[in-house]
Amino acid sequence: MAVKGRTPFLAGNWKMNLDHLQAVAFVQKLNWSLRDAGHDRGAVEVGVFPPFTDLRSVQTLIDADRIAFSLGAQDVSVHDSGAYTGEISGQFLAKLQVAYVIVGHSERRQYHGETDEIVGQKVQASLRHGLTPVICVGETAEDLEEHGASAVPVAQLQAALQGVTADADIVVAYEPVWAIGSGQAATPQQAQEVCATLRQVVAEKLGADAAERTRILYGGSVKAANIASFMREPDIDGALVGGASIVVDEFSAIIRYQKHVGV
Ligand code: PGA
Repeated sequence: MAVKGRTPFLAGNWKMNLDHLQAVAFVQKLNWSLRDAGHDRGAVEVGVFPPFTDLRSVQTLIDADRIAFSLGAQDVSVHDSGAYTGEISGQFLAKLQVAYVIVGHSERRQYHGETDEIVGQKVQASLRHGLTPVICVGETAEDLEEHGASAVPVAQLQAALQGVTADADIVVAYEPVWAIGSGQAATPQQAQEVCATLRQVVAEKLGADAAERTRILYGGSVKAANIASFMREPDIDGALVGGASIVVDEFSAIIRYQKHVGV
C-alpha cells in the first residue's frame, strides 16, 4: 500500500471531452455514486481536470454543493498576462480555485512541441500562482527498448525540477507513453520500480522530506480492474486516469479501490 501520510490521489484527466453542461452532470453523478456507495471522503483525494471552458461551471457546483473534489486544469501558460493569444494564465486558474495543473503531459509534448524547458517554465508558472503542478513524465516504446524504463522519465523529472525549491508542493505522474490510451498498462512491478526511482530524483533535487511527502502517481490504461494492483505498491500514491475517468461507474470504482477484493 502507498505509505501512510501521503493521501492517495485519484485524478481524472478528461482531456478534450465533455462540454460544460456535460461536465456539471458528470460531477453530480460521480458525487452521487460515491455517496450511494458510502465512500469515505477522507480516504482518498479525488481530482477532476476538465477542459478550460468547463472550469467555472464545475467550480461553482463543487462550491455550492460542497463536493469534496479537487479541481485541476490541463495546462497553463508560461506567461502571467499579456499579448499571448489563446493562452491561459495561472493567475486566472487560481482565481477559479483551481488547485492543480497537469504539466508536461505526453500529448502536449508530442502534439504541441513542449520541450523539457517549456515544461520547466510551466512548473514555475504553476508554483508562482500557488497551483500544484502534476508533472508528467514517461518513456515511449522506443525509449523503453533503447534505454529501459527509467532513463527518460528520470531525465524529464530532473529537468522539470530545475530551480524548484525544497518546500514546493508538487505531484509527479509516471505515464509510459505506450500505456496511454492503449489498454496495455505497465505491470505494477515496472511502475513501482520507476516510481521508486523518481522518488530518488525528488530526494536528490528537493531533499528527503520532499521525497517522503510528494505523491507519485501511475498513469496509462488505469481502470477499475487494475487500480488495486498499482495501489498495493509502496511508491505509487495514486493514478492519473484518462479514458476511465469520464465514465461515472468506472471512475467511481477506481476511487473506491480500497474496497476491492484482495487489497
Ligand atoms: P488513459 O490516459 O487512462 O486513457 O490511458 C491516461 C493519461 O493520459 O493521463
